[in-house]
Amino acid sequence: MVEANNTTVTLQVHRFTPHPERAERARGGSPFAKKSSPFGGGSDSAARRRPRGKQWVQEYTIPARPSDTVLDCLLTIKRTIDPTLAFRYSCGHGMCGSDAAAINGTPTLLCTATVRDWAKQPSTAPEVDDEGFRRTGDETANEPDVPVENVENVENNITEGSLGVIELASLPGFPPQRDLIADIDPMLNQIRKLTPYLQADGVLATTAEGKVDVFEYLQNPEQLAKYETLSNCIACGVCEGACPVYAGGDAFVGPAALIWASRFINDSRDTKAMDRMDAIDTADGVAGCQSVRACSLQCPRGIDVGEEMWQIVAKVRER
Ligand code: SF4
Ligand code: FES
Repeated sequence: MVEANNTTVTLQVHRFTPHPERAERARGGSPFAKKSSPFGGGSDSAARRRPRGKQWVQEYTIPARPSDTVLDCLLTIKRTIDPTLAFRYSCGHGMCGSDAAAINGTPTLLCTATVRDWAKQPSTAPEVDDEGFRRTGDETANEPDVPVENVENVENNITEGSLGVIELASLPGFPPQRDLIADIDPMLNQIRKLTPYLQADGVLATTAEGKVDVFEYLQNPEQLAKYETLSNCIACGVCEGACPVYAGGDAFVGPAALIWASRFINDSRDTKAMDRMDAIDTADGVAGCQSVRACSLQCPRGIDVGEEMWQIVAKVRER
């Protein structure tokens, strides 16, 4: 069924433009060379996390259908209203992980989030609940859609036919680079430091004549099942953005790096499992995980990150 396109959505975008000298410094590499953590934390990442630049919130109201993704909406804005709006994407289908951002405060992918699921009608409810607690964050993000005709026009930009408002910001836990683009290098560096590639025995299979033939590492389905789900991680950073302990890797290497470590620790072909477990058996490694499990909520690859954290922590302690 083709949906009529006489509806609109309002995007409230938290924008950021770095000061020129900060951009210059970023291009020339970080001047903060000191490292206090084997995962690259310390003054370096702390300095890089502090956004220095102009910050403001900009609203865009555009035609949209409930089935449109937030990425569709941003592309419409970029092409028709404001070419200066910066965001990052590549595949558009939840495969590359390049477009993680905060939608209504929740880390998720722009290309898989739909207007239907994330647009909120402005609340007419009191900001304070019965017990005196202020309503916060994303409490209304997934509430059922309110029929448009029942919604009062309580904000200037909410008119009849509006599907609601979506608030966007760059991925939490990482320094913003510009608008919705976060610098995820801290996460990628942590993953790199944990040698995210197979380290097998390197024994070559040979032919009957003793000639080198192929590398052959056989594995049965049970062995594959131990890490197959983990190998789906696309390093999007959504779990890290949701983790209250992770903030650039100073206190905690972060769930994504541990997922990558676990993926190889559980691979029967890898010969470095003990070394890998030693590498994460640190105060900012597995000991940093507080089992909050917020990391599990929005993983786009269906990994139960919190459960995997639990498993790898137990494995490291039992070895
Ligand atoms: S575990 Fe999931 S949420 Fe975390 S980086 Fe990998 S794909 Fe993204
Ligand atoms: S653009 Fe590739 S995952 Fe969203």
